[in-house]
Amino acid sequence: MLDQLKNKVVEEISQAKDLNKLEEVFRTYLGRKGELTKVLRSLKDMSAKERKKKGQLANQIKNELDQLIEDKKKGLGSDLKPKEWIDVTAPGTKVSRGYLHPLTLVQREIEEIFQSMGFSVLDGPEVETAYYNFDALNVPKDHPARDMWDTFWLKGLDLLLRTHTSPMQARYMEKNNPPLRVIVPGRCFRHEATDATHGFQFYQFEGLMVGEDVSAANFKAIIEEFFKKFFSSSDIQIRLRPSYFPFVEPGFEVDVKRGKGKWLEIMGAGMVHPNVFEASGYTKKWQGFAFGAGLERLAMIKYQIDDIRLFFSSDLRFLKQF
Ligand code: DAH
Repeated sequence: MLDQLKNKVVEEISQAKDLNKLEEVFRTYLGRKGELTKVLRSLKDMSAKERKKKGQLANQIKNELDQLIEDKKKGLGSDLKPKEWIDVTAPGTKVSRGYLHPLTLVQREIEEIFQSMGFSVLDGPEVETAYYNFDALNVPKDHPARDMWDTFWLKGLDLLLRTHTSPMQARYMEKNNPPLRVIVPGRCFRHEATDATHGFQFYQFEGLMVGEDVSAANFKAIIEEFFKKFFSSSDIQIRLRPSYFPFVEPGFEVDVKRGKGKWLEIMGAGMVHPNVFEASGYTKKWQGFAFGAGLERLAMIKYQIDDIRLFFSSDLRFLKQF
């Protein structure tokens, strides 16, 4: 019987929507004339044995219900205390901001520097034809030089994922007359195993400058100026070593030295090959230079990053540092 009463009160307490209702529940059961109070009062008329048994239970229930009502009162809030308050002196919570990817930062910086020297920035397709990726760049079918680029071919189509940004040289010259200065940043793909310095996808930027008397000396001056700005240092040295790329003649490997640092191999370059000009319909009157560099490599040197895989890892601990 007592248990039934208890359950009823518990239920009514939990249903009480405001302090008035709660007060009413208290009065009905626990107040001076309350139902439970009556039970407690009747204890004195019972036998000692029965009083002990029932009394213990009734007191225990009363205490539990008192506590429940007390808790509920706090939950509903007392009219005397404001329900909400704001500590205007508390420090605010910091909003966490997004960050630009280091490759985006480096790409934007490169674009700005070259734009300041009169170059336009172009975009090109990541899916290419063999013609622009190879043939137009003086790498005919079956020429052993094609092995320089491990290529992802698209099955059943005469298409591939560009292995370098150089195809945009041909695409641009086909549609635009010289003189010209352009750079082409973009993603490239190679069918290669991944390690700390190689990925199957990576970013490059291509440069091309064509005019009537654009020379290797001009190239050296421009690229030196670029590296001075890129590394924010006037103490930059450039070294050109002879090298081979089918689309240039002569071709070079470009090394850079900062201050007292080591020589670092940083890009391929050369004077645009006459066959490339011819494929694009340019007459012999024109000459110029081209170059191609890896964005990851430049970012790694600039920010002292030692593993190329970090760029594509989406690891916030890495990304938040820039
Ligand atoms: N396309 C070459 C590569 O990905 C890099 C390169 C070398 C680009 C020499 C050039 C160049 O424009 O003149 O390996």
